[in-house]
Amino acid sequence: MKKIAVFISGTGSNMISIVNAAESGLIEGAEIALVLASKPSAKGLDFARNKGIKTAVFVYGDKNDSEIAKGLSELMERNSIDFIALAGYVKVLPKDFTDKYKGKIVNIHPSLIPLFCGKGFYGLKVHQAVLDSGMKVTGATVHFVDSGVDTGKIIEQDTCRVFNDDTAEILQKRVLEIEHRIFPLAISNLIR
Ligand code: GRF
Repeated sequence: MKKIAVFISGTGSNMISIVNAAESGLIEGAEIALVLASKPSAKGLDFARNKGIKTAVFVYGDKNDSEIAKGLSELMERNSIDFIALAGYVKVLPKDFTDKYKGKIVNIHPSLIPLFCGKGFYGLKVHQAVLDSGMKVTGATVHFVDSGVDTGKIIEQDTCRVFNDDTAEILQKRVLEIEHRIFPLAISNLIR
């Protein structure tokens, strides 16, 4: 049984879709062993606690990269974690950590990478940038995590239409539906 850690910073709707997929058997041979949040107020923590999933909060604070890599590694080792899914995790992982877990950390991003990604592209800003560009399609991307921001190899993508009367909020909702479908699917394929 592979042990998955899901890292979150906010609502955790992608984390919920992964937990549900594991429960329903879509993700076979794996359990969600840990939900790690970057701050105590991350809403998704409540869902995890109610499900009886182990949770942890790891605040970067004024820790340097080497302390962060060491702290996160210890948490992963203590919980025998094999695979990590970043689900709305807003913190950048230090290179020592991404190198150590190379090929074992994946992220979901709410655009078609290499478009509208990298530093500064998060939340509604991504969708507003898509609207401003005039593009008529957008989508979501699952990719491996390396030491850059949204630079790792693409694993899975899917698209949706952008309509003339869309707002960033409407687009975010449409793209989230894609995220909730392709993220558990990609994880399921990778851990097989
Ligand atoms: C999602 O849009 C994800 O693609 C991005 O952050 C958002 C997190 O949403 N990385 P949630 O916390 O999973 O609801």
